Amino acid sequence: MHLNKDEEKILNGEQGEVMERLFRLLVRLGDIYNADKMIPVGSVQVAGVSYKSIGDPGLEFLEDMVNKDAGVKVLTYLNPAGMDIEDWKKLGFPADFAKNQLRVMDAFKQMGIVITSTCTPYLAGNLPRFREHIAWSESSAVSFSNSVIGARTNREGGPSALAAAVCGVTPNYGLHLWSNRQPSVKVKVDVDLKTSSDFGALGYFVGKQVKNKIPYFTGIKDASTDQLKALGAAMAASGAVALYHVENLTPEADLVETKGLETFSVGKNELKETYNRLSQGKNPDIVIFGCPHASLREISEIAGKVKGKHLKKPVWVCTSRMMKEASDRMGFTDIIEKAGGYVVGDTCMVVSPIEEMGYSTTGVNSGKAANYLPGFCKQNVVFANIDDLLEGQL
Ligand code: F3S
Repeated sequence: MHLNKDEEKILNGEQGEVMERLFRLLVRLGDIYNADKMIPVGSVQVAGVSYKSIGDPGLEFLEDMVNKDAGVKVLTYLNPAGMDIEDWKKLGFPADFAKNQLRVMDAFKQMGIVITSTCTPYLAGNLPRFREHIAWSESSAVSFSNSVIGARTNREGGPSALAAAVCGVTPNYGLHLWSNRQPSVKVKVDVDLKTSSDFGALGYFVGKQVKNKIPYFTGIKDASTDQLKALGAAMAASGAVALYHVENLTPEADLVETKGLETFSVGKNELKETYNRLSQGKNPDIVIFGCPHASLREISEIAGKVKGKHLKKPVWVCTSRMMKEASDRMGFTDIIEKAGGYVVGDTCMVVSPIEEMGYSTTGVNSGKAANYLPGFCKQNVVFANIDDLLEGQL
């Protein structure tokens, strides 16, 4: 890989130990994937934030970085944390867990990272432009930024994203290159998709089939950005899809080559089978929406459905701190809380320790959450659309 003079100096330790260590990591990555050079990134999103995932070793690593004066060079956001940073007591998060999670947040803040913990940074003030190179980590955010926005990122690991944030560059390989953004399989959708859970089910099914290929969808007549985020999140979870194209809907769909691609169809039956496969539980003891983190439109939709009603069991709507503040201001939080639910900021059902909080069956409308909850949180899952999930709780 070609390094310029300034980059050589970093490698020689002229900008301190932390820079040298993190830059070396990027060079190693670039060498493995045959990158030709480093490219500047416009923003970073760092994963490995929940204390549940990183534990004491992760916390010690971050505090060591702070002690060595690590600081970020570009706009950097965080993936969801393990709890609502402000309302954790009210929601019943364990105090020991909270103490460590707050230390993690403090370490990130001292590095200059915006402690907005969300998998939808693009809804919360970190919006890349078309073709901008970025280094993001969380798989649904990576999928959305590549596919719906047309920005360019590989799916970074926690350390490589942190290195990109501190050094301001990433190696030029993978999805940063136009030649690697071409579709490798065509998916013909022969069913009307109505709800976000339909998009999640489609994503789950397709992800399982295509694994890490780049699908090109035809037959999706319309989709909101919320539905596209549900589709991409599920495909990234059940497969490893970091980029997809949708005919007439996503920005690179008209630009890529689609002739001669292997093709398969998804219809009503496949969707129905996927709902059955993902929904193994019964009678959820909690329903959690907001995977990926809910937009203001999704929060308002749920508020509209529970207004004036009384929920029998807890309902959470997970979102970023920014969306929660907008929801507070619009009165949606109040409506949801009066019905007995919560708008939960900074965290989500998968990275928070819900299994330690007495829940064993969770209702979700997200294909991604349905994929991860059994393994990560020992949950039985009920996968359905918002109306069906709320019907059981009202
Ligand atoms: Fe986001 Fe958590 Fe889902 S990180 S995509 S809400 S599993």
